Amino acid sequence: MSDTINQIPAPGKFITIEGVEGVGKSTNIAFIRELLEQRGLELLVTREPGGTELAEQIRELLLADHTEPVDPTAELLLMFAARAQHLHTRIEPALARGCWVLCDRFTDATYAYQGGGRQLGNGTIQILEQLVQGALRPDLTIILDLDPETGLSRATQRGELDRFEKEKLEFFQRVRATYLQRAAAEPARCAVIDAGQPLEQVKSATLEVVERLLDTESGG
Ligand SMILES: Nc1ncnc2c1ncn2[C@@H]1O[C@H](COP(=O)(O)OP(=O)(O)OP(=O)(O)O)[C@@H](O)[C@H]1O
Ligand SMILES: [Mg+2]
Repeated sequence: MSDTINQIPAPGKFITIEGVEGVGKSTNIAFIRELLEQRGLELLVTREPGGTELAEQIRELLLADHTEPVDPTAELLLMFAARAQHLHTRIEPALARGCWVLCDRFTDATYAYQGGGRQLGNGTIQILEQLVQGALRPDLTIILDLDPETGLSRATQRGELDRFEKEKLEFFQRVRATYLQRAAAEPARCAVIDAGQPLEQVKSATLEVVERLLDTESGG
């Protein structure tokens, strides 16, 4: 009988990594992946918008240029359509079987880009968050903070710009400010790391907050 109980795995932890383009999300995800895999944890590394075949198609629609202006509410709904698919078919099943999930952007990005950047505000996003996620929130959100000019100059070295990367600097300043407001409002969940530091320092700050989560997990 107790065997049956022992077979129910503790749910995995859900870590999200956020910040404007070029702050170092992908770079630091690789460091976190290494740390978690060293600890022997099963890990799903994924991204938003995207993470499933359907959601990746929605991502392409969101990042592409269009011959008509994209309505901000249409953009918002596409973000949450992709999120519903990703969350319900991949993230939640993974967490339920004890797998940790590391996601490049999640709902904080929607608050930052559509709420702040596009100036839609928080009200509609809160409603959609509740509809799609219920009570699910990340256990840890790492916000890499950097002035958008530096971030964009790092990112643009990659070549062609997507529909978001073509936005004006003021757009990204609103995105950054919204991220910082969210971190201030939820300090237990969000860790802000200065992404303008040399990479080695960003890496150790990133790994430190993940280790803290690992410690609370193992230490109870
Ligand atoms: N702390 C740092 N200092 C200097 N350069 C950095 C730092 N962190 C990352 N970079 C460099 O900046 C560039 C962008 O990094 P990365 O691709 O990790 O950013 P990103 O946040 O994933 O970008 P995007 O939002 O476009 O996916 C890379 O060339 C990376 O090596
Ligand atoms: Mg990236």
